[in-house]
Amino acid sequence: MSSYKNFCDSNEIKYFKNIYSFHAFKLSQLLGESFLDFGCGRFQFSTRMAINNPNLSVTVFDTNLDELKEGIKYTGFRWFQSYKDKIKPITVVSDFNKISNKVFDTIAMNFVLLASKTPVIPVLHDLVSPNGYVGILDYDFTNSSFDEFREVFTCDEERKAISRFNSVEETFQHYSSRGLVECKNEAEEVGFKTIYSSKFDKRYFFWIGQKL
Ligand SMILES: C[S@@+](CC[C@H](N)C(=O)[O-])C[C@H]1O[C@@H](n2cnc3c(N)ncnc32)[C@H](O)[C@@H]1O
Repeated sequence: MSSYKNFCDSNEIKYFKNIYSFHAFKLSQLLGESFLDFGCGRFQFSTRMAINNPNLSVTVFDTNLDELKEGIKYTGFRWFQSYKDKIKPITVVSDFNKISNKVFDTIAMNFVLLASKTPVIPVLHDLVSPNGYVGILDYDFTNSSFDEFREVFTCDEERKAISRFNSVEETFQHYSSRGLVECKNEAEEVGFKTIYSSKFDKRYFFWIGQKL
């Protein structure tokens, strides 16, 4: 097994689970009745949120149907069946018009800020209830060198991200273009108050804001 594969199969996966757990823990303290995972991918994060908070109405939204289908497959697995009767059904949405006239008490957005082709923070502001909360988890390579980036940006999902650019250098340019400071500034400009922010291990940030 290559050292790259070893890395992806063990430490990196555990590591990703840790940052998601931390974000879920922070958001769990700020829940109302409804929760949206914006750009949910395969929605493992929200499956966990639903299990941990059985009375929560969870909606997951992504424009990528293939990712949603994978997520639906995942919730069909036997381990999930035992939870199914104990939690509210998870609403899976791929059409933005189905959520655009709704508001949610808490919204999570994990690794979408840099993946989206269009600005998403103003959209989150429209989708969150007055006084509701938005939690963003994403990369922050703004103070990293290209070599540092190249050394750590190696997981399967990250390799997929690189393949969407012409080169690793171009990927670095994009991924180092914004981080916590830019997210916080943009969010405060559209009307959020920052209630929590931190950087983690030089390459991630957490930001939680409340709609004023
Ligand atoms: C890197 S993946 C992260 C998926 C998931 N949040 C996670 O942490 O595993 C980024 C996801 O954001 C979705 N996405 C990007 N821009 C979006 C947008 N403007 N609206 C909805 N989903 C978007 C993509 O389809 C993709 O599934």
